[in-house]
Amino acid sequence: MALRKYVVGNWKMHGTSSDIGEILAIAESARELAEVEVALCVPATLIERAARAAPGFPIGAQDVHQLEKGAHTGSVSTAMLKDAGAAVTIVGHSERRDAHRESDELVRAKAVAALDAGLSVILCVGESLDVREAGNAVATVGEQLRRSIPASLEAPQAFAIAYEPIWAIGTGRVASPADIGEMHAALREALGAAYGGAGADVRILYGGSVSAANAAEIFAVANVDGALVGGASLTAEKFLPIVEAAAKCGGSVETAAADS
Ligand code: PGA
Repeated sequence: MALRKYVVGNWKMHGTSSDIGEILAIAESARELAEVEVALCVPATLIERAARAAPGFPIGAQDVHQLEKGAHTGSVSTAMLKDAGAAVTIVGHSERRDAHRESDELVRAKAVAALDAGLSVILCVGESLDVREAGNAVATVGEQLRRSIPASLEAPQAFAIAYEPIWAIGTGRVASPADIGEMHAALREALGAAYGGAGADVRILYGGSVSAANAAEIFAVANVDGALVGGASLTAEKFLPIVEAAAKCGGSVETAAADS
């Protein structure tokens, strides 16, 4: 079956109650584009208000602690996220891997905890500019994936990978379609090696300066099943054209072809 495109906004450290109207505008329009799955990962402080304001629309977190509870000042558990109304969480974003020294092993533990708790997970991987320029991007990101993903998956549809080249995040620089295609094919193969047939049901999103101007080209690349969008997800005006581009594109090229 062709995978339904998945477009996720990552609000990072942006958003207060005055932005609920923006979330509602996104949720209402997304509901009309049923061929695309849309979610918004907002700051933890906004999850409950957003989930109440837009019932049925998936609101997510940007990180979660791997343990159930305890002396972990400032952290939020899977149960707390679910209690607040979150349906999904990002783990392993490069901004957390870098600024909070999160290792692949920790990212894996977070993914396992979140999936076990019934949250959907978007697990991020991506290379630095140095690694890309040294020609090691595919090998490095493949290794990062293998070390970060859960050993087994019960519900592959609840698990997504986001390939986000670090040098493309928030910079306006986007990886070329050829480079995205090469990386996503390698990640698809690694998911197949890890999960067998279920690896084909894990969506692989691209992230890094996705905008209305480049979304259609990115979504047309084989094995691109959606996008993780930062800056351009902060307003309905910028985000909805990306969702619409995904709707026009339908299922990812390779899986759609496999259907026929
Ligand atoms: P950007 O961020 O779209 O602003 O580049 C993407 C991300 O970090 O998820």
